[in-house]
Amino acid sequence: MAEVTVHGVSRFFGSHAALQDVSIDFPDGGFYGLLGPSGSGKTTLLRMIAGFDFPDAGAIAIGGEDVAALPVQRRRIGMVFQNYALFPNMSVFDNIAFGLSVRGVARKETRDRVEKAVDLVQLSGLGARRPHQLSGGQRQRVALARAIVTRPQVLLLDEPLSALDKSLRVGMQIELKRIQREVGITTIFVTHDQEEALTMSDRIGILRDGRLEQEGPPAEIYDNPASEFAATFLGDANIFRGTVDGNTIHLADGTCLHCREALPPGTRAACAVRPERIMIRSTAGPVEAAAMNSLPARITKRIFAGNSITYLLNWQGETLKAFAQNTGTTPFDEGAAVTLHWAVESTIPLS
Ligand SMILES: Nc1ncnc2c1ncn2[C@@H]1O[C@H](COP(=O)(O)OP(=O)(O)OP(=O)(O)O)[C@@H](O)[C@H]1O
Ligand SMILES: [Mg+2]
Repeated sequence: MAEVTVHGVSRFFGSHAALQDVSIDFPDGGFYGLLGPSGSGKTTLLRMIAGFDFPDAGAIAIGGEDVAALPVQRRRIGMVFQNYALFPNMSVFDNIAFGLSVRGVARKETRDRVEKAVDLVQLSGLGARRPHQLSGGQRQRVALARAIVTRPQVLLLDEPLSALDKSLRVGMQIELKRIQREVGITTIFVTHDQEEALTMSDRIGILRDGRLEQEGPPAEIYDNPASEFAATFLGDANIFRGTVDGNTIHLADGTCLHCREALPPGTRAACAVRPERIMIRSTAGPVEAAAMNSLPARITKRIFAGNSITYLLNWQGETLKAFAQNTGTTPFDEGAAVTLHWAVESTIPLS
């Protein structure tokens, strides 16, 4: 068992709190996506789990064992650092073999395991090169091979695929998931790429200014963001603000939007609507159904993206966004007056 438990962890650099009272359970054998803006504390958290840094408050356990007194090399962790941290004067082979040689693994076994890892990350034939003779993406893959060759029970990945081009990246995503499932490694994966986080993770945690903003399975966070920050950080969202009356938000222009759940009465609040939930009708089109919200708007920009079209719309001087699938119907023109419709179910109250 190698679940990782972070409980009430804080870390201060001078007066700056890089992490504040963060508690997360990383399930055994799970793939956990850690998201958050630059400086939100992602690397700091990984470094403390690995044992390169220590919390000022709180506790970290791996497989149920408190690791406060356990040095890096005894934590059975593989880590891919944000900057790869390869040894520049060593070959690819020796970089990957390093963790095995410090553990005293025999030469023959080392060679077999390194070769397997090299194949896995598709670097065959490059074993004799030095890091400076590799591309950024190749260096990243050496770092990945080096992290998995020691068969760790926990894999910490700090943006391991960021230097790869799209096709290599998708290939590595699939490979990484395969390796992770096969070996059952508890994996914590930091990424800036929302789509990558959504498609790869069993659970996602969003850090904001050193605090855990929201946590849960990807679909749950996407469909039920708790805050404006979570709604806009993971995916796109249109935010509407107004005063609250039960399930209804009264906007400044007098429009009422019905939310799928009630909000506390009398308060100002906001709700979110995902762009793909908005349907666009020409204003002369069919009348809205019940259980729908609607707003008049004008199309200001049409962005063609192959399989979909993004429309930017002006409503009361604010910019809204709607996605439409490219189904072959004639798209709306820029400048057109339209009506936006969406279901009450798609109107998410924010706290
Ligand atoms: N050794 C240090 N000394 C002082 N401040 C630090 C140190 N390490 C990190 N910090 C600060 O702590 C905060 C969190 O840093 P961290 O590296 O964890 O962010 P991050 O979420 O990984 O960001 P990025 O996405 O840019 O990699 C930042 O404000 C950073 O400047
Ligand atoms: Mg970082």
